Amino acid sequence: MVTRNNIFDLQSDVAVVIGGTGGLGGAMADALASFGAKVAVVGRSQTRGEERVAAIRQAGGQATFQSADALDLGSLVTARDAIESQLGPVTILVNAAGGNKPDATLPPGSDFCKLSHSAWREVFDLNLVGGSLLPSQAFGEMMVARKLGSIINIASMAGMIPLSRVVAYSAAKAAVINLTQFLAREWATKGVRVNAISPGFFPAEQNRALLYNPDGSLSARGSQIIGHTPMARFGDPKELAGAVVWLASQSASSFVTGQNIVVDGGFSATTI
Ligand SMILES: NC(=O)c1ccc[n+]([C@@H]2O[C@H](COP(=O)([O-])OP(=O)(O)OC[C@H]3O[C@@H](n4cnc5c(N)ncnc54)[C@H](O)[C@@H]3O)[C@@H](O)[C@H]2O)c1
Repeated sequence: MVTRNNIFDLQSDVAVVIGGTGGLGGAMADALASFGAKVAVVGRSQTRGEERVAAIRQAGGQATFQSADALDLGSLVTARDAIESQLGPVTILVNAAGGNKPDATLPPGSDFCKLSHSAWREVFDLNLVGGSLLPSQAFGEMMVARKLGSIINIASMAGMIPLSRVVAYSAAKAAVINLTQFLAREWATKGVRVNAISPGFFPAEQNRALLYNPDGSLSARGSQIIGHTPMARFGDPKELAGAVVWLASQSASSFVTGQNIVVDGGFSATTI
């Protein structure tokens, strides 16, 4: 029976957070561990991964670091096998590797027809192929075989609204939302739920230079974003905890699949 004491209990779960080495992935790894999941932080930087693992253990959670490149299916399969032999069957996958590249943006006055194709492809590769496709194949294969799993893709509010400048990133995240819906339908009767979380603006490593000046004051773009956000602030990565734990928990969200949960302080709910 589901009760208020167990609805979000993840103690029988093993969660993999790809990009758990970063700002948002790290906060979601913390949240899953604090609800009892054994967490594998997966990424390319051993140093940052081990730091996150130490923080989770310090807080009383269970975690381990596993190195892998989200753009390399072989390394993901190797990581999956190592995690499963150490922690047990993976039941939760959070795809949080992703980000933008300066060359794939269109600053004011720049020419869309001159946009770099290689940068465009890199952004699509990182966010769509590494940020969802390959990890979903590597980990989803085992989830489908065992008929149990929750895959959570980190898309973006930019995937719902074509934000100015970040054209390749917005288009890639729109594709992540579409792939989320496709896979949700594909695996709906196979015990695997597939959902997305679309954050608005949260200061992190990959966007700090966009949001702040070197002296720590808000950049012009940062001010413009806050001016358009009804809550008049950026998000704190901890504010993704509720969405990720809810989608991860089979008890709490067993009939939820193919959805995109937006956590953006109201940004996408308003226009001027
Ligand atoms: N920060 C925001 O405002 C925001 C908003 C919407 C969506 N997002 C998305 O959230 C996710 C996390 O972003 P973040 O803001 O925490 O950025 P971040 O740069 O702090 O974290 C991303 C992490 O992914 C890792 N990574 C990148 N390429 C990888 C690869 N090939 N293999 C393994 N790991 C790889 C990075 O090393 C980094 O640790 C991304 O998908 C991003 O697009 C962020």
